[in-house]
Order: sequence, then structure tokens, then C-alpha cells
Amino acid sequence: MNAHINRIWPRPADHIDDDSILDTYRFPDPSWLRMNFVSSIDGAATRSGRSGSLGGDADRRVFELLRRQADVILVGAGTVRAEGYGSMRLQDDAVRWRMERGVPEHPSFALVSGTLDLDPSSAVFTDAPSRPIVYTLGTAPESRRDALRPVADVVDAGADTLDPLKLREDLVARGLRHVHSEGGPSLFGAFIAAGAVDELCLTLASTLDAGDAGRISLSAHAAPTDMRLAAVLHAEEELFLRYVRAGLEQAGG
Ligand SMILES: NC(=O)c1ccc[n+]([C@@H]2O[C@H](COP(=O)([O-])OP(=O)(O)OC[C@H]3O[C@@H](n4cnc5c(N)ncnc54)[C@H](OP(=O)(O)O)[C@@H]3O)[C@@H](O)[C@H]2O)c1
Repeated sequence: MNAHINRIWPRPADHIDDDSILDTYRFPDPSWLRMNFVSSIDGAATRSGRSGSLGGDADRRVFELLRRQADVILVGAGTVRAEGYGSMRLQDDAVRWRMERGVPEHPSFALVSGTLDLDPSSAVFTDAPSRPIVYTLGTAPESRRDALRPVADVVDAGADTLDPLKLREDLVARGLRHVHSEGGPSLFGAFIAAGAVDELCLTLASTLDAGDAGRISLSAHAAPTDMRLAAVLHAEEELFLRYVRAGLEQAGG
């Protein structure tokens, strides 16, 4: 059974259904980049090195629904390795939902790796419903490019540092306008520094984790980016906060 979720703001409502959740998080028309993270209330982005155990059933429900609306899921290689990503395949009900709307059964999958330390024989590539895109740097070793080329599009998005705006442009050129990124913190930090984040969907899990876990974004270069609250959902032990970059409220609020 679905975990109960209430909408606190806007339009308060109890036990909202999937359509209402999807409506709360509807992508705006222009190209749009959304980041999705979970954190403990004291700011831990991981527990025992992964994010999964921070979130509960309601977080998993929202997480799956956010994936289904996306043209592409964008993830940093550190997260792919730490969280053990497999192929980017959605559940049957999400596939039906997408087919009814005339979009591909599964979103595309785009990874970011500067070193291309990725296993071409992993399910991420061998079981992919469509050819994944791997964004990398000009400095990536040629041998690793050669190893990945048979199973993925390998695209330079910067000479020696990542250019998130260039990456976004490439996605749009492929018709992938609605980007749902699942992190991680290094990728998020680079996108904040480049002014390339339109939205953050943050799940706050009601725990105090302390410990030495990192936070959800990391960058030595980013200036603060003002965000505006666009929606708040609530489940028993979680808050779901949707923030849109200041100035984009008209498009995405
Ligand atoms: N709380 C949450 O919601 C959440 C979400 C996602 C991840 N996490 C956690 O975050 C941890 C991983 O953190 P992370 O910072 O390593 O994650 P990450 O950003 O996914 O991965 C970092 C790696 O991705 C590539 N990358 C990312 N940004 C890059 C850039 N600007 N330029 C070049 N390459 C770039 C590099 O790959 P190469 O090393 O291959 O060059 C880099 O080492 C894991 O423990 C994971 O569980 C938590």
C-alpha cells in the first residue's frame, strides 16, 4: 500500500494520490534541471555511506514518481558506484503512465565521470533500455573512452573541469529537456557553482544522525543561490520541500 502523503502548501489536502503528487512536481515547459536529495534534519546526506536508509516509504514513493516525469536521469559516478545503480528501468505502472503520454517507456540515463572509472560490463550499460550518455572531461583516459564507446555515448562536457551549462545544452539538443538529477553532492555543487540548478526537491527525514556524513552539496567555488519555496508535502516521518531558483517562480512555482 502507498505511504500516506499530505500536501501542506499550496492547496492543503490529506492523503493525496499519485496524480496530485505528480501535479505538485510538474515540470515547467522550458528546459529544466531538478535535483533530488534526502537529508537527516541535522544535515547528513548518507547513513553508512548510502542515502537509501535515510528515506522511508513515502520518500521512495515520491522518488519513483519524480523519476517517471523525467526525460533523463542524471547521476554522478560517485553515486552510481556508492548506491550500486543498475539499469535505468522504471516500474510497470510508471511505464504504462509514460506510454499513455507517448514518451519513451523509460527515461534516458546520463552519468558524469571525469575519470571514466565505470565498468562497461555492468547492468547500467548492458541492460540499459536505451544507450546511456556518459559526460566526461577532455582529460579522461583514451583507453577508458574506447572501452565505454560500444555501450554508451561518451561526450566531453569540459576540457579539464565540468561545464554544467554545456552538459545541459547537449541534453536539450538530444530532446532531453526535463532533467531529474539524483546527485550526488559533488555534482550538485558543480551545478550550483555554474548557476545550472533550477529546482531542489529535498526530503527531510526526521532523524538526528550526527556522525561524519557529508552534506548534500559540495563546492569550493559556489556563491549562494537564492531559492523560493514552491511546495511542501508531509508524511508521518518526512517533509518534502520543493524549492525553485529565485527568478524562476513564474516558470516553475
Ligand atoms: N542524500 C542523498 O540524497 C544522496 C544523493 C546522491 C548521493 N548521495 C551520497 O553521496 C555520496 C557520493 O558523493 P559524491 O560527491 O562522490 O557523489 P557524485 O557527485 O555522484 O560523484 C562524484 C563523482 O562523479 C563524477 N563527478 C561529479 N561531479 C563532477 C565534476 N564536476 N567534474 C567531474 N566529475 C564529476 C566524478 O566521477 P569519477 O570519479 O568517475 O571521475 C566524481 O568523482 C554517496 O555516499 C552517496 O550515497 C546522497
